[in-house]
Amino acid sequence: MADKLSFKDIEAKIADLLSTFYKELEPVKSVVWDSVSSDLTLRGKDAAGNDTVALVESKTKLQDLRTRYSGKKSELSTLKRSIGLVIPEDRAKTGQAIQKLEISITDPLTQMEDDLNVKISEIRTAEESIDVTLPGRRPRRGHRHPITLLRERIEDIFVALGYAIEDGRELETDFYNFTALNIPDNHPARGAQDTFYTTDGFALRSQTSTVQIHAMQRRGVPVRMIAPGRVFRRDTPDPTHNPMFFQVEGLCVDRGITMAHLKGTVAEFLRRMFGPETVTRFRPSYFPFTEPSAEFDFGCFKCKGSGCRICKNSGWIELGGSGMVHPNVLRIVGVDPQEYSGFAFGLGIDRMAALMYNLDDIRLLFENDVRFLEQFE
Ligand code: DAH
Repeated sequence: MADKLSFKDIEAKIADLLSTFYKELEPVKSVVWDSVSSDLTLRGKDAAGNDTVALVESKTKLQDLRTRYSGKKSELSTLKRSIGLVIPEDRAKTGQAIQKLEISITDPLTQMEDDLNVKISEIRTAEESIDVTLPGRRPRRGHRHPITLLRERIEDIFVALGYAIEDGRELETDFYNFTALNIPDNHPARGAQDTFYTTDGFALRSQTSTVQIHAMQRRGVPVRMIAPGRVFRRDTPDPTHNPMFFQVEGLCVDRGITMAHLKGTVAEFLRRMFGPETVTRFRPSYFPFTEPSAEFDFGCFKCKGSGCRICKNSGWIELGGSGMVHPNVLRIVGVDPQEYSGFAFGLGIDRMAALMYNLDDIRLLFENDVRFLEQFE
């Protein structure tokens, strides 16, 4: 084919092309402007409820324009190829005009793409940045176990009554757990308090009464102490039993101590624990290390004695054992029962916790499920 085209032919095409390009560019320009000047976020919606799709759409629109107006199959590229067909004297002029056309097309596109990219990266930076002035996340705070809370309340009451707090041992010898407490070998009371034995003669204590002996050996008499702690028994766990539980032991030995002191002390403790109207009841009982012995109950804190689920309709809640320290127990620690007398008592903390917190399964206290334990502050 001969060189037939002149600059004039091409110039007309360039003008046409440029005007359709501008017509198409106009609406895209305003879309891009809108998204660049908005407060859009990439993930969410902006304050006005527009979502980020606009930004992405603007980019796609620009890319589409670029492909159609400057891509391989665009008119621009056809025009470029047609330069060779232009008569030689017009060729340079035509080439320059086409080059100018290309710049007129790609420049605004590039400019807008840049603007969009800047906007997108600004948003990303804003979204990913950390506000160092925000308060930090607090570490989760632990708190005391319900048994501990209760033990501390009991301790506070007895400390106020002039009692010392004794720490005992969980691993004991037969002597402290039984013999010294007037429970000789073959005594049936051993059976009721069967515990866990080691192979070399030790056993996990089955009662905190062991601390009575330690306290009198260490402190001598007179003595006033309580000993809260863990005890163990061979028991199959069920809603009201656990092979490990907590007791508080109390001991008061002095000259002239009588059962009246025992009753007064236990009653006062229960009043401070459950309120001034709390009534106390003693029932005759038997324990090898006390004589006489009594179990004590208190008037139900829930129904005040009229009968409810907690007190099993009796109006009373059984709490513990007590009595006057057996002369044999005093003798074994070298205290003369003619000169000194005393009282002792023991109660279960977990039983009390179960009642106070209305737990239908005592084992909840030992499963260490934080969701449960968290409820007691
Ligand atoms: N140690 C007894 C028990 O575990 C409770 C007890 C009863 C303790 C009478 C005492 C007491 O100090 O005097 O069943």
